[in-house]
Amino acid sequence: MKFQNTLEFAKELDNHDELKKYRNEFIFPQHNEKDVIYFTGNSLGLQPKSAKKYVDEVMNDWGNLAVEGHFFAEKPWWDYHERFAEPLSKIVGAKPSEITVMNTLTVNLHLLMVSFYKPTSKRYKIICEEKAFPSDQYMFQSQVQFHGYKLEDTIVEIKRRDGEHNIHLEDILAKIEEVGDELALVLFGGVNYYTGQVFDMKAITKAGHKVGAKVGFDLAHAAGNIKLDLHNWNVDFAAWCSYKYMNSGPGNASGCFIHEMHHSADLPRFAGWWAQKKEKRFLMEPKFNPTIGADGWQISNLPVLSLAPYLASTEMFAEVGMEKLITKRNQITAYLEFILHEIDKELDGTEFEIITPSNQEERGCQLSVFLHGQGKELFHYLMKNGVITDWREPNVIRLAPVPL
Ligand SMILES: Cc1ncc(COP(=O)(O)O)c(C=O)c1O
Repeated sequence: MKFQNTLEFAKELDNHDELKKYRNEFIFPQHNEKDVIYFTGNSLGLQPKSAKKYVDEVMNDWGNLAVEGHFFAEKPWWDYHERFAEPLSKIVGAKPSEITVMNTLTVNLHLLMVSFYKPTSKRYKIICEEKAFPSDQYMFQSQVQFHGYKLEDTIVEIKRRDGEHNIHLEDILAKIEEVGDELALVLFGGVNYYTGQVFDMKAITKAGHKVGAKVGFDLAHAAGNIKLDLHNWNVDFAAWCSYKYMNSGPGNASGCFIHEMHHSADLPRFAGWWAQKKEKRFLMEPKFNPTIGADGWQISNLPVLSLAPYLASTEMFAEVGMEKLITKRNQITAYLEFILHEIDKELDGTEFEIITPSNQEERGCQLSVFLHGQGKELFHYLMKNGVITDWREPNVIRLAPVPL
């Protein structure tokens, strides 16, 4: 499609937008009595209007039924989380039994490392991306120290080439091959938080498995944003937060994927009663008999009040489906990219560059704009004028025109 940088053209795109009714399903902060232009759904998604209804339902059941709500609430609390398995499995390309929701993202990655990072004197190294999200870096460091290894011997970062912003797949694959039988785990982002680069999870998983390592992904910026096929890619495990693209609310629960090939394996795990098989959970027996499936990694009974808004948004995503979402994502992101290039032409062409890959297969809906000139002033100007973006040091404004 040939884009034009005019308001009429943008409105015409809106008129033909199959998903246009969904914009009205969200609450927008106001600026000068108008909706802000919200580009930070990659950081904290907007509140779906339906979220309040789901939360109120739990509040009302709690008031009316108190403890009996566990079994007799509108949506009983004791198995509330099971409602996520079907819709989330479609969003991330999994079988329902491979999905669970619990805790928060970094907590879950730690718990999954308990099962999937089992270093030995020969095989103990971890491959990750350079400049992974800091929480992941701290997690790696603390896990390695916990197991008694030295950071400098254990953590292998895949670097960007000199002067480049994105990581080459061939460099990742070559490093996996090189580390070979010393490699215990590859734990990568699905989408890099800073550049918006999507990594080829299928190829990385295949390469990791070829040398005998386990492969997992932090999908914070991938779930609800890009096409995932975790089961067929044979990914061992993955986790994501739900408050970004999936609009579940600040700091909200994390989704987890554990491939079915591990469900009956004798893997170490930190246990709690909520993983106990349903029929045994309330028998209060001392022997741990975990549920077969990702739910067998749960620990505590779930914070139903926080799951409620997540369920509201998950159901909306399932209704739309990732295919339509991605079609619109590609169009709206390409249009934003076009407009930025048009602005660039009006300037001298050196003010900024988009460091996110231009190839749609290698990005979701985030564009990271590296500013060479005025930097933070421009960011503050946008924010003051109702255009909500975010700033990442040293010089990047991230913009995500999320499709819904
Ligand atoms: C890529 C990535 N990983 C991990 C995290 C940390 O998530 P949490 O604080 O929910 O554990 C974030 C948060 O923004 C993130 O973007």
